[in-house]
Amino acid sequence: RRFLQTAAVLAAGIVLAACGKKEEPAPVEQAASAPAPAPAPTVYTVGTDAAYAPFESQDEKGEIVGFDIEVLSAVAKKAGFEVKFVNTPWEGIFNSLGQGDRDIIISAVTITDERKQTLDFSDAYFDAAQLIAVRDNSKVAKFADLKKLKVGVQTGTTGDEATTKLIGKASTNIKRFESTPLALKELESGGVDAVVADNGVIIHHVANNPGAKFKTISDPEFAPEHYGIAVKKGNTAVLEKINQGLAGIKADGTYDQIYAKYFGAAPAKAQAPA
Ligand code: ARG
Repeated sequence: RRFLQTAAVLAAGIVLAACGKKEEPAPVEQAASAPAPAPAPTVYTVGTDAAYAPFESQDEKGEIVGFDIEVLSAVAKKAGFEVKFVNTPWEGIFNSLGQGDRDIIISAVTITDERKQTLDFSDAYFDAAQLIAVRDNSKVAKFADLKKLKVGVQTGTTGDEATTKLIGKASTNIKRFESTPLALKELESGGVDAVVADNGVIIHHVANNPGAKFKTISDPEFAPEHYGIAVKKGNTAVLEKINQGLAGIKADGTYDQIYAKYFGAAPAKAQAPA
């Protein structure tokens, strides 16, 4: 009996020892140099022209923040990839996809037929239109009134396209700027009579710069625009993940939450397909 007891204790001891050994953590040096046990999610490099608040801008610490940043971060989380945002000048932003420097562009980019020839776009994630900013003593009442005036735009934007169409390609009255804030500075100092840019950005600027004494003018002549997230033409693998994540955050309320944070109210439920 005593023998049996001893044997049982010994056996138990062996089992415990074995268990203990199993649970022993791997040596630290080995864990650091060995490949990660779970495959790390792919990190995509995202280009954005971060001078376009409230969609993308840099905070005091130089961090890139804004509506687009929160939307794509939520999309990535939903679809299981990671994103690294890199401030990228608007001019050349689309070329950075072709060159492979950026995997994704989110930059309040309007989906246009012309751009669709060289890029692939996600489903639309935001509705926009052009808006005119003028000094508050201006007599401008509609877009056509800009025909003989000096107008500031950001080079290569839909605001540039619309204004060029109105004023004419040859006109020297269009002043093209590298960024929209630079165009708005010029409006403040009197170098141009108006700025044409996306409504969200103009409204944000006017609200945050009361000292500039601007007013805004909308015009039904401006075509409705829809923002999309761009990838290199043919990059369906990434595009599918983006669309899947986008559908996910639209369905689960995350998109509405982000929208409300930036624009005050949830967008209309029935969104016209782009
Ligand atoms: N929506 C306009 C366009 O696509 C302007 C976008 C400018 N975006 C920016 N981050 N600067 O042409």
